[in-house]
Amino acid sequence: MNDPRPIGIFDSGVGGTSIWKEIHSLLPNEKTIYLSDSKNAPYGIKTQEEIISLSVKNTEKLLSMDCKLVVVACNTATTNAIKVLRSTYPVPFIGIEPAIKPAALKSANKAIGILATRGTLSSQLFAETSELYTKDINVIEVEGNGLVELIEAGKKDSEETQEFLKDLLKPMLAAKIDYLVLGCSHYPYLVPALRKILPENVEIIDSGEAVARQTKSILFKSSLLNGTETYKEPEFYTNTSPNVLREIINANKNGYKVSTLEF
Ligand code: SIN
Repeated sequence: MNDPRPIGIFDSGVGGTSIWKEIHSLLPNEKTIYLSDSKNAPYGIKTQEEIISLSVKNTEKLLSMDCKLVVVACNTATTNAIKVLRSTYPVPFIGIEPAIKPAALKSANKAIGILATRGTLSSQLFAETSELYTKDINVIEVEGNGLVELIEAGKKDSEETQEFLKDLLKPMLAAKIDYLVLGCSHYPYLVPALRKILPENVEIIDSGEAVARQTKSILFKSSLLNGTETYKEPEFYTNTSPNVLREIINANKNGYKVSTLEF
């Protein structure tokens, strides 16, 4: 097995780098190309038709860069577009879904919170997963509308974000949740702010590590792993100013290359 072609990863903006980090850490010898479609963020308030059309555009850009597999590092794009992508293109697609199952299985209080976009919470895929695992659980769903915009604006650690989150989490705190599921790839960047609001017993879970393991497993099963032992430098592309993306991946310190591209 020795397929040196890159893994392509796209998101509505900078948030999917939370997924990219896990993939890069598990598979440092795989070349990764990250596309940040920040020009069109947020996806979470768009129609399904718009989300599919943006996901097709991003996929075609990654395939034009010879990617062997595509990770849809955006919950909203996964829940709304992955079926179309899988039936249209010949490469494997990995998607991200909120980690409802582990939260529901582990919750001692039988109460879990799910923070996600409207696009994810209203999707059929989300409804199917939720119905399967949460029959005897009190599920508090909260739309995080506005959070992606704050993160894209570089304000994840601001007072404004902290106050906004405090309000959003009120119904979850009232219901005494003991698990908070982050259903948007941008939200892991809010963990420091969330930790200041949530009681210590509340566990926060996201899907990053599971997606990385799934990526490795699909590459292996499809004979697409890069067998070489050499570290591969990742590449990052954005269709807006690269400043927030550079900051969030610590590009200067890590020596990562971030470029602006039309797509
Ligand atoms: C968004 O662009 O609104 C959110 C992305 C996600 O759902 O992960």
